[in-house]
Formats: sequence, structure tokens, C-alpha cells
Amino acid sequence: MEFETKCLHSGFDPYEFKDNPALPPIYQNTSFLFDSPEHAANLFALKDEGQIYTRIGNTTVSVLEERVARLEEGSGAVAVSSGQAAITLAILGLAGQGDEVIASSYLYGGTYTLFRYTLPRFGIKVKFVDINDLSALKDAINDKTRAIYGEVIGNPSLIPMDIEAIAKVAHSYGIALVVDNTFATPFLVQPIKWGADVIVHSMTKYLSGHGTSIGGIIVESGNFDWKGSGRYPSLIQPDPAYHNLNFWETFGNTAYTNRVRLSLLRDIGPALSPMNAYLILLGIETLHLRMERHSENAKIVAEFLESRDDVSKVFYPGLKSSPYFELAKKYFYRGLFSGMVCFSLKQGRPAGEAFIKNLPLFYHLANVGDARSLVIHPASTTHQQLTLEQLEAAGIDEGFIRLSIGIESIEDIVTAIEKALVSI
Ligand SMILES: Cc1ncc(COP(=O)(O)O)c(C=O)c1O
Repeated sequence: MEFETKCLHSGFDPYEFKDNPALPPIYQNTSFLFDSPEHAANLFALKDEGQIYTRIGNTTVSVLEERVARLEEGSGAVAVSSGQAAITLAILGLAGQGDEVIASSYLYGGTYTLFRYTLPRFGIKVKFVDINDLSALKDAINDKTRAIYGEVIGNPSLIPMDIEAIAKVAHSYGIALVVDNTFATPFLVQPIKWGADVIVHSMTKYLSGHGTSIGGIIVESGNFDWKGSGRYPSLIQPDPAYHNLNFWETFGNTAYTNRVRLSLLRDIGPALSPMNAYLILLGIETLHLRMERHSENAKIVAEFLESRDDVSKVFYPGLKSSPYFELAKKYFYRGLFSGMVCFSLKQGRPAGEAFIKNLPLFYHLANVGDARSLVIHPASTTHQQLTLEQLEAAGIDEGFIRLSIGIESIEDIVTAIEKALVSI
């Protein structure tokens, strides 16, 4: 199936369900009945396939997992309760106490604080580097490195990752590359084709697309040699936490997915609600159409902002003047660069605040990827906890505004932005 068709059909066969429902039913139940004691024992021993308990698996959630796995062209996926849960479990599936992770310095603020403060409290050290600087990346790698992590385009700097080059370095050391594809979505960038091993999403954003549901997902490429690497004993040795199951021998190219589900999701518990899975599945049906319109509108907004004297800098990887245009073109293979546009106002923080106060149409809130246009001032909100130096390392300043361009009429969007700029 082509991408557009997969958005509507993959992972769901109506004829497998009673009465052939046209949409995946919402299995809003915590548990699934066993046919017999033997059936129960076989499900727990993984000898039979089937659902047991919604914390580790649910029929509606499974449709979503299968659909996103197909869209990313991975071998399997685990859906969880938020993007943050996806990132946390993705890392815990690779690293434990005493291990290290190397992360891009261009990250979403929540991911940054997870890496900078929370993971180290559990003994996982995270080193931050300019991820496209391959010699800095190599210098940061040592025997303890268990993952290299970055965002396909950083939030909010919108700097693209050179996925292919970074994957080559990671693989030459037997390290898995984990990427956050939230901002690009698999419609615009297919990280697995370029060598990414694990993909995470905040499905809260473009996948859901309508601001209805918090959700996250972890996708495995199925290409990483967990055994050959030598860095991931928990995947290739008997796991005492799951009656000595050897994930690699049992599941092969979905070893990581199954460990994340059967061990981490089971024990830590950030399950996605079936209702949210249903709403996200509805969102995905129009992902391709929305991403086209988001991208077309965003490009026009970026060009408009570039023409303004009161704007010092525009961040949009699809602008020909962007220093990242060539890099972005390589990965955004449709020539569409998503709906996020950021810019800096010459007059700094007061101008940033005035812009938001005077901007009609846009919703001022802490989300992106909604069908509606959204705006935020990161320095006073999502990135509030960062020092000026940390802000600079994340590629932003105090007059920086993040726009998530919606699918409204482009005339209305540009008129609203112009009005706010004029009123400053
Ligand atoms: C790029 C990126 N990754 C992950 C997250 C976290 O996702 P969630 O809010 O669903 O936990 C966000 C949230 O804004 C994000 O922008």
C-alpha cells in the first residue's frame, strides 16, 4: 500500500471483528476473558497470541500500533500514554544504571529536562552534543554509550538531523540511533530508510492532529543487530524479570519492541487509553492531507516573515536562504517541510510578548501540530527553565516565537500575523 492508503487501512481488517465494523471498535475494557486455565497459562507464557490486560495490550491500541509501524516501515511498535512516556521507555529499553546516552542539544524542553535531570537520578548519564558535528559525536562515545538521540527537526530550533551520517557513526560503534519524528511525521521524513533504529513520536501532535489526545509511540526498525552489538545484554540474555525469556531468540526483529512492552510497559505502566488510540487513529486518516496543507501554509508564512524588517531571523528548513535547506531537502523527500515556523523579533522579549497579545486567530497554548494555528513564546513557557546559555545552545533567544501553522486559509493566517507585527 502507498502511504495515503496505509493512513486509512493498515493494521485493521473489519472482517476480523464481529459484524464487520467499518472503523476499529473502541475496546474500552481493562481485561480480556480467558477461554480456560490452559488458555490463560498459554497467553502468559506467550505460547498463544492474544490480549490479557489493557496496560500491556488492547485491541484498539494494537490497530494504532500496527498502523504507525507500517507508516514508519518498522517491524513493530508500542503505544504509550504520552510522548514523554515514549521517550522514557525508549531509553530505558536501551540503557540502565551506569550507562550513557548521547543527545542532541536541539531538543524539546521536556526531553531536555528528562535527560538533564531525571535520567541521571536513575544513574543514566546524558551527554549533550551538536548532533551534526560528527567529530564531537565520536568524541562523546565510549564503552558505556547505549543510545544516540536526536529530533528529526529540533523543537523549536527546527534544525534538521543528518540522520544518515549520524546512523553510520552510531552503527560503526554498535550503538542504536533513536530519533523523535514528531515534527516531520513519517509522511515527510522516513528515518528508518536512513538508518534510524528506534523512532519515537508524541502522537499528541500531527498524528492525532486535532488537539484531542495525549499519546506516544515507540517504533522499532527491525534492522538493528542487538546481538552483534554487544552493548544490549538485556535483549540477548535470559531476562529474570520475564521468567528468563530471551527476547532476541524469541522475537528476532521485534526483540526490542517486545521487551519495552512486556517488561517496561508492564512494570512502569504508562498505557495509552483505548479511547485516545481511537481518536489518534481518526487523526491519522487525514495525516497526509493535513501535512500537505500545513507545509504549504508554513512556507508562505516563512517567506512573509523573511520579508519583514522587524524580524531578525526566520527558522524554517524549507526556506532557500536557510543554512539547513540542502540538508532538509535530502530528508524531506516530498519537498514539503512541515508546519512549524519560528522567528525572532528584533526587539527581544517585550516584542515577543506584545506579538502574542496582539495576534488574532492563533490559539496561545502549549501544543503544536493541531489543525488550528497555534503560537507560543518558548523563553517564557516551554523553555522557561533554561538559562540564557542553555537557550542559546538550544538555538533560541528571548524574542523567539514558535508558530505551528494550521490548515486555515493562508490569507487569514498571514493577515493575523501582519496585524500583530504592525501593532508592536
Ligand atoms: C518533539 C517533541 N517530542 C516529545 C514531546 C512530548 O510529548 P507529549 O507532550 O505527548 O508527552 C513533545 C511535546 O511538545 C515534542 O514537541
